[in-house]
Amino acid sequence: MSLLADRMSALGSENAFKLGENIQECISMGINVIRLNIGEPDFDTPEHICKEGVSQILRGNTHYCPPAGILPLRKAIAKQVSETRGINIHPDQVIVTAGGKPPISYTLITYVNPGDEVIYPSPGFPIYESWVTFLGAKAVPLHLEESKGFSFTADQLEKLVSKKTKVIFINSPSNPTGGVLSKSDIEGIAEVIRTKCPPDVRIYSDEIYENILFDGAVHSSIASMKGMQEKTIIASGHSKTYSMTGWRLGFAILPTKEEADIFKNLNINIVSCVPPFVQEAGREAYESPESIKSINIMVKNFEERRNFAVPALNAIDGITCAMPKGAFYLFPNIEGACKKMGVFEAMESLPADIKKRTFPSKLFQMFVLYKYGVATMDRKSFGQVGADGKHFIRLSIASSMENIKEGIERIKKATNDREGFAKFISEGKHLY
Ligand SMILES: Cc1ncc(COP(=O)(O)O)c(C=O)c1O
Repeated sequence: MSLLADRMSALGSENAFKLGENIQECISMGINVIRLNIGEPDFDTPEHICKEGVSQILRGNTHYCPPAGILPLRKAIAKQVSETRGINIHPDQVIVTAGGKPPISYTLITYVNPGDEVIYPSPGFPIYESWVTFLGAKAVPLHLEESKGFSFTADQLEKLVSKKTKVIFINSPSNPTGGVLSKSDIEGIAEVIRTKCPPDVRIYSDEIYENILFDGAVHSSIASMKGMQEKTIIASGHSKTYSMTGWRLGFAILPTKEEADIFKNLNINIVSCVPPFVQEAGREAYESPESIKSINIMVKNFEERRNFAVPALNAIDGITCAMPKGAFYLFPNIEGACKKMGVFEAMESLPADIKKRTFPSKLFQMFVLYKYGVATMDRKSFGQVGADGKHFIRLSIASSMENIKEGIERIKKATNDREGFAKFISEGKHLY
């Protein structure tokens, strides 16, 4: 009998958290690391929200609370999401979760049997694919194309739909590409779902970057389209909009109260409840007029950084970078740079056991980190199924303009350092 259950080998991860160890190693080696890997706003939680949380703790609001979430917060979420999506949500449909991540596993646990098919964006948030494979469902990645600004069309989706399609993940604005689906894209997608999908399909609409949009764009949700609210789980949270990543606060809105009760029971089984003082701070975030000012400052900063960084990356020979319309990530194509640096030849020359564990964008990422001190994320950190032959990295612009400028300058130097790359490979360290 083996120590670990067989299923554990099927669970993926989020490398953004794992890379911390490599960064620490670099720092201990004396490397000054610029972190363009980070998936959280580089702004502190606005003061009015912090004050509410602290005052709740000091008033003794530190006990268990309702597992579905406290009613004042569920009411605030229902009101905000109803108004912004033009739909009608009852607080009983809202389940408060410990961050925006738990609803992903809750959804797959609730609706998907082994062998059922799950469609999800690739590149996409890695936790979708991780839970799909863990539960023995069939992973059906919907590959997002750089040439289409990383959005996708109804036709692309239609080709992937089958009788076994059970859950479809949509994430707009997207991590890691910053792509945003337009209202007309979403209308087309809704039409495919209405006409081609099995009636009990569920759409997981991950809207966690809903407030981080550029060029005056307005957020569209698939739940607003005809016949879609009854099929859609809207997931969002406080991490990105209110810079509250460490508070662990998110939510899911279910099509029915019965389905919400299942999510409530999952909360009971796993975390019991989200801390009540965190929830009160989250309610304050929705209700205070101060919040919008903080959001506007943050988004303006991200937009200015994007406006600098995208042309700067495109000016590097061998790199092309699409202009993201939301979130705080850039997803440059590094294929040309890899050719220039000799990455593909190096891949071929690696011993078989190392070759199995690495790939070109990983070698690029590690070289840039260990030799040039810039932390980025490789392509396969955002979905592995069908990702061979795709050569991208993700850069986060949730970092100061100074860091972004310096980071891009160092990446440029790295792409011109064919000799240094060959030496890095011959040293045989940090290749995966
Ligand atoms: C698309 C997407 N969904 C969900 C999450 C999870 O957010 P949280 O930190 O609130 O769990 C993230 C975080 O990076 C994300 O990018």
